Amino acid sequence: MILTSIFPVKHVEPPAWLYAPMARRFFHRLVYRRFAGDLAASLPPGASLLDVGTGPGYLLDLLVRQHPGLHAFGVDIDYGMLCRGPAPAQFTPVVGDAQALPFQPGAFHQVLATFSLHIWPRKAVGLREILRVLRPGGRAWLYEMQREASAAALRAFARDLGLPFPLVYPVFKALSWHHSMGAGELAGLIREAGAERWRLRTVHHVFWRIELAG
Ligand SMILES: C[S@@+](CC[C@H](N)C(=O)[O-])C[C@H]1O[C@@H](n2cnc3c(N)ncnc32)[C@H](O)[C@@H]1O
Repeated sequence: MILTSIFPVKHVEPPAWLYAPMARRFFHRLVYRRFAGDLAASLPPGASLLDVGTGPGYLLDLLVRQHPGLHAFGVDIDYGMLCRGPAPAQFTPVVGDAQALPFQPGAFHQVLATFSLHIWPRKAVGLREILRVLRPGGRAWLYEMQREASAAALRAFARDLGLPFPLVYPVFKALSWHHSMGAGELAGLIREAGAERWRLRTVHHVFWRIELAG
């Protein structure tokens, strides 16, 4: 108690110089490919896409390569993250806060956020902002690690990725300690944000996908 009042517990996130090389590697690439596959049907040419908390922007880079003609924007609070990504030839990097998105209402067909929501101090405000920038009929998908992921789910995930379970299990559990979210917490936040049409789904065995409709 005394210790935490002297040293407040702070959310521990890897700095840009550490995260960017990690996100470029094998494991992240496999996961990004799966998320890009999920999105394939919802990104017709000319669609506008916003990735909130895009980090170095590797997933966004993959998406713009797969979907020419996409109007893609990646927003991140950390300029250092945006600088460390691939050259943003086809998407626009923007420094900004998820909790006060620097975009007009109804600007996007599709909003995406991967592994970022759990960091935002005012998560419901961020979700409300996402709803604001979605156009009517638009859709937002936010992915987070599942706090509830069971050993069986992690085994299935490892099998799908072609990775050894004894490696995947401890890595996922170690990362989950600080970076995962639970179903109850998410449902509460979504309601607090005032979303009318939403769904919480398990995808790829061990991730939550929060789906919001504009
Ligand atoms: C774990 S990284 C995920 C990056 C990327 N989405 C990915 O999947 O590789 C989390 C990112 O969220 C960003 N972030 C944290 N708080 C934010 C906020 N309030 N607004 C915008 N971005 C934020 C961080 O700077 C970081 O780049």
